[in-house]
Amino acid sequence: MLKWKFFIVLKFVAIVRMASAKNCSTNKPPKVLIAEPSTPRSGISYLKEHGCQVIELEKATEDEVLKHIAEVDALLLAPPLKLTNKILDAAGCNMKTVATVSAGYNHIDIDELRKRGIKLGNTPRVLDAAVADHAVMLALAAARRLHEGRLKIENNEWKSDYQWMLGQDICNSTVGIIGLGNIGQAIAKRMKGFDIKQILYTGHREKPEGKELGAKFVSLDTLARDSDFVIISVPLTKETEGMCNEEFFSKMKKTSVFVNISRGQVVDQPALIKALKTNSIFAAGLDVMTPEPLPPDHEMLKLPNLVLTPHIGSATTNTRNEMSLLAAKNILKGLAGEEMIYPVV
Ligand code: DGY
Repeated sequence: MLKWKFFIVLKFVAIVRMASAKNCSTNKPPKVLIAEPSTPRSGISYLKEHGCQVIELEKATEDEVLKHIAEVDALLLAPPLKLTNKILDAAGCNMKTVATVSAGYNHIDIDELRKRGIKLGNTPRVLDAAVADHAVMLALAAARRLHEGRLKIENNEWKSDYQWMLGQDICNSTVGIIGLGNIGQAIAKRMKGFDIKQILYTGHREKPEGKELGAKFVSLDTLARDSDFVIISVPLTKETEGMCNEEFFSKMKKTSVFVNISRGQVVDQPALIKALKTNSIFAAGLDVMTPEPLPPDHEMLKLPNLVLTPHIGSATTNTRNEMSLLAAKNILKGLAGEEMIYPVV
């Protein structure tokens, strides 16, 4: 009996030692792991100025994160790096704060964080204008055959024909927005500046913001059928994954333009490729696709009626600086046990 008691005491001491080896004391400067090497200095300087010790990775990989995660109190990351269970299992007991330098958080398992009592903050709003500008640019570029026109010049196929390279007007068009969140609303405001006929939108429910914009709430079906421009600005969820599929594209007008600035997985990409190849829709502009990065020999790069950009919707200097700063502020709030500025969990 005495032997057993002695054994239990020894085990307890070992557990306490393991816990202190995991740096569970709270009186040291908090350590923050910056998992994305290209994080703008704005956020990193802010963390340092506010007393944090910062560890910066040279590569955003799971292996690199695993080397440091046990010793830190907070993690700052950005997509596409996934916050895996392996990383969470290796984290120390003080690692209760995570910030992503992105509005989207489909690279993170929210339920898992909730289970583990870890807070997550993201960086919406500060990127609305940049992403909305990008959506409008893609809509115009696809409607006016920007990519195809450039190819014609390069291939010495420039014709001096009055009916050559005709595109689609935005003026008097119907613009359909899937997901009238903050970015969707910013897109709607910009599109209204082009003297359009009307804005349609769809989503979970009718929104007061939709009324303020003079936009009409419709079903996904009606939006596909009636829009001259379809613009996707929904987050990637189980519900939205693959929502723009063959059936959806078959309902769109032959003259309509499709734009996606949210996540590639919202679109059934082979179905979109087919619609573009068979000209069952006019053109598309994509900032997001699958996979990312897109291999240079991918068939989408051979489609003249497809304008592609490499997921740079929020990539302006000011916007990225703001996103980094906001992520840093979320981290400091989380470390202080306060509500983050934009809490997800
Ligand atoms: C975002 O913030 O979600 C952008 O798409 C960058 O990933």
